[in-house]
Amino acid sequence: MIPPGPKMPAIAQTAWFMADAPGAFESYHRRYGPIFTVRNAGFPPEVFVTTAELAEQVYRTDHSGHGRAGEARRVFLQHLVGSQSVLTQDGDAWWRHRKTLNPPLRARQVAGYEDDIAAIAAEKIATWPLDRPFGLRDHFQEITLEIIIRLIFGITDAGRVQRLHVLLPELIEVGGAMSVVMLPERLRGPAGRAPFGRYRRFVRLRAEVDAILLDEIRRRRTAPGGGDVLGRLLETELGDQELRDELLAMLFAGHETTATGLAWAFERILRMPGVLERLPDDEPYLDAVVKEVLRVRPVVIEAPRLLDAPLRLGGYEIPAGWYAGPYIPLVHRDPAAFPAPGEFRPERFLEGHQGKAWMPFGGGRRFCVGAQLALLEMRVIIREVLHRLELTAPDQAPEARRLKNVTLAPAKLTRVIARARTPARTA
Ligand code: HEM
Repeated sequence: MIPPGPKMPAIAQTAWFMADAPGAFESYHRRYGPIFTVRNAGFPPEVFVTTAELAEQVYRTDHSGHGRAGEARRVFLQHLVGSQSVLTQDGDAWWRHRKTLNPPLRARQVAGYEDDIAAIAAEKIATWPLDRPFGLRDHFQEITLEIIIRLIFGITDAGRVQRLHVLLPELIEVGGAMSVVMLPERLRGPAGRAPFGRYRRFVRLRAEVDAILLDEIRRRRTAPGGGDVLGRLLETELGDQELRDELLAMLFAGHETTATGLAWAFERILRMPGVLERLPDDEPYLDAVVKEVLRVRPVVIEAPRLLDAPLRLGGYEIPAGWYAGPYIPLVHRDPAAFPAPGEFRPERFLEGHQGKAWMPFGGGRRFCVGAQLALLEMRVIIREVLHRLELTAPDQAPEARRLKNVTLAPAKLTRVIARARTPARTA
């Protein structure tokens, strides 16, 4: 038996997902309970679960080898990040890469980036508009992109940094467009001679980015060392193309997500004077606020696995060839895991609660490799902003949640008015 789910045509389910994913899932959850089947046009059915316990059973397929996270992502990502990154591989090939990515991204390693992150943030914050409303999210994306270019790619040449600031967001935007993602392989044409306008533009952008990254990789091989992540990866056995794929994977998985997490942090705290008042210098509290923001507004909403064997789940049997995965926003509202789940209560993390139910970074063996860097970035950037500016939300109504590429973002991009702090509230 398979889990129940909406009867409407797959195309209507996809349309609802695109227009209002949170609304659609909340409605399915009310109607069908903690496990339900959703159908999207052109894809295998997907079973979603909304409790930590069921999610854990899905993540366990990482260990059995029957859940293929890489294959689940490949259709959306391979044209962007290639076939040799941790995002898109499975099995032994995935583990060979993951083993090399883990060490430079551990908490202790990324802690060494704190001052650089603060300096990059301070430089960008100084250029933000004052005394008129603007959306914060895209400004955070400039900061998180700069962090990836400098601290992960290790690129310092000002001209190249500048060029990548233009190219990379465009590559991701064009590469993420449905008309590009869904273009069938046979219509893509040979490299560089793609017949369709949008796809052709994508191929050109990718070629220009590749040329820069591969040149950096080759140049750095002749002058080893450096504290950036690429410097560390160059000490491993990964080849040039493998490194290029990993750099783009970290860019793709790491910059919009973190920027959206930051946007939600301000969207929430600017509406909670009691929380704002305690920030940013109480470090444990700041850390707890970041975690609570990612609980109530997880940026990535699903972490699917493509099953290559049937899976018994919640009394049902999910067929091989289907997707299964948690719907993270509802797992985070499971009252069994998070008492009073509707309340914003950072204290729950200070009291030691965490457990496996908190999954903004996914779970199992495929748990986000950049989680420690993302958490550090969020803490440091929040601190830098609050030391320099006094922010207010011109409209106190909460912002709606809207799908934006791979993330669920605040609909108005976290609209704020910034005023300079006088005197500067520096630590
Ligand atoms: C707030 C920011 C971030 C969020 C919410 C986030 C979330 C996630 C999620 C949900 C997954 C999938 C896990 C799963 O399938 O179980 C993931 C995977 C991944 N993330 Fe992140 N991420 C963030 C920041 C970053 C950063 C900064 C990097 C860059 C270093 C990064 C690199 C990756 C990579 C490479 C994977 C694939 C891991 C694998 O399959 O082995 N992420 N992330």
